[in-house]
Amino acid sequence: MQEIKITRAQTLKEKPDSSTLVFGKSMTDHMFIVDYDAGQGWHDPRIVPYAPLQIDPAAKVLHYAQEIFEGLKAYRTEDGSIQLFRPLDNVRRMNASAERMALPQIPEDLALAGITELVKVEQDWVPHEKDTSLYIRPFMVGLDAALGVHSSHHCQYIVIVCPVGAYYPEGLDPVKIYVEDQDVRAVKGGTGTAKTGGNYAASLRAGDRAEAQGYSQVLWLDGVHRKYIEEVGSMNVMFKVAGKILTPDLNGSVLDGITRRSCIQLLKDWGYEWRSAASPPRSSSRPPRRASWRRPGAPAPPPWCPPSASWPRATRRSPSATTRSALSPSACTTSSPASSGAACPIPTAGS
Ligand SMILES: Cc1ncc(COP(=O)(O)O)c(C=O)c1O
Repeated sequence: MQEIKITRAQTLKEKPDSSTLVFGKSMTDHMFIVDYDAGQGWHDPRIVPYAPLQIDPAAKVLHYAQEIFEGLKAYRTEDGSIQLFRPLDNVRRMNASAERMALPQIPEDLALAGITELVKVEQDWVPHEKDTSLYIRPFMVGLDAALGVHSSHHCQYIVIVCPVGAYYPEGLDPVKIYVEDQDVRAVKGGTGTAKTGGNYAASLRAGDRAEAQGYSQVLWLDGVHRKYIEEVGSMNVMFKVAGKILTPDLNGSVLDGITRRSCIQLLKDWGYEWRSAASPPRSSSRPPRRASWRRPGAPAPPPWCPPSASWPRATRRSPSATTRSALSPSACTTSSPASSGAACPIPTAGS
C-alpha cells in the first residue's frame, strides 16, 4: 500500500468539554485525503491540517450530488486503548455505495488505513467519558469541473473526525417519533441502499416538520404503499412483538446497517426468534414476503406490520418508544461478544 504522508498542524485546537459535546461540530486538527484520477488510480494519500477544501464551483458534487459517505466511531475502552467497531464493513458498504453512484472503487486497505492512521494521529481527541466517542466520517466526492451530467474522472476520498456525545439529547431515553406519510426517504431502484447525501437532503423537510411539532425523528414508510415501515431517521428499526424481534427486510430501499446486521447476529447467538419482512410488490395482493431466518418447519409468523389504518399514523406516535433504546447502536456494540472479532483495536502510543 502507498505510504501516507503526514503533515502536522502548527497550532492545535483547544479540545471541547466532553460533557457538552454537540454531535458533529468540533472537528479535530487533521484530515485524511487521497486523490483519484482515471488512468492513474488512487494516489497521494496524506494526512494534513484540517482546513476548508478548495473546490471548483462547477464540480459535479455541487450540482449532481455525486457523493457518498460513511459513519463509524472509535471508542475509548476502560484500559485506555482505542477500538473501532467493524470498520471493514463500513469500507465495504462505501464501495457498494460507490458502485451505485458511479464513483470509483477504493482498495479496502487504503480506505481503512485512511481511517486508522487518522485516528492514531488524533488519539488525544478520543474522549474518555461514558457515552462519548470519536465519530469518523469518511466520504468520497466526484470533482470533475464540468456541468455535463456524467460521472467524474477526478475524485477524492476524505476522512474527518470529531468527538461526540449521544446523538440524541435524550440519550437512551425514549424519543417521540413522527410517522411520515407524505415524503418518502427512498424507493426501490433509487439510491436508498447507498449512503449518499441526496437521500439525506430529501429527508430534511420531513425532519423539520417533525421537529416543529416536538418529535425527535421521522419514521419512514415505503414509497409504494406508504404503509410498510422501512427505517427511523437514519437508523434501521426493530420491534419486539410478543417476544419476537421483527425488522424490515433489506428490500432495495433500506440501508444495510452494520448495527442491524450485528444485532441480528447477536439475536441469533442468543437464540432469540427474529424475522425480517418486506413490503409486497406493487401489483400483488399477496401478503408480505418474510422469514429470511425462519427455522424449517416452523409455523408462519403473523404479519409484522399491520395495515396503515390500524398503525399509529393517526396519532403520530412511536409504535414502541423503547425500541430504540433497547436496540441502540451503543447497546449492540458494547454487548458484542469479544470472540466475534468485531472490535478492531487501534495500536496507539501508550496503549
Ligand atoms: C438511513 C440509515 N439507515 C441506517 C443506518 C444505520 O447504519 P449503521 O448501523 O451501519 O450505522 C444509517 C446510519 O447512519 C442510516 O443513515
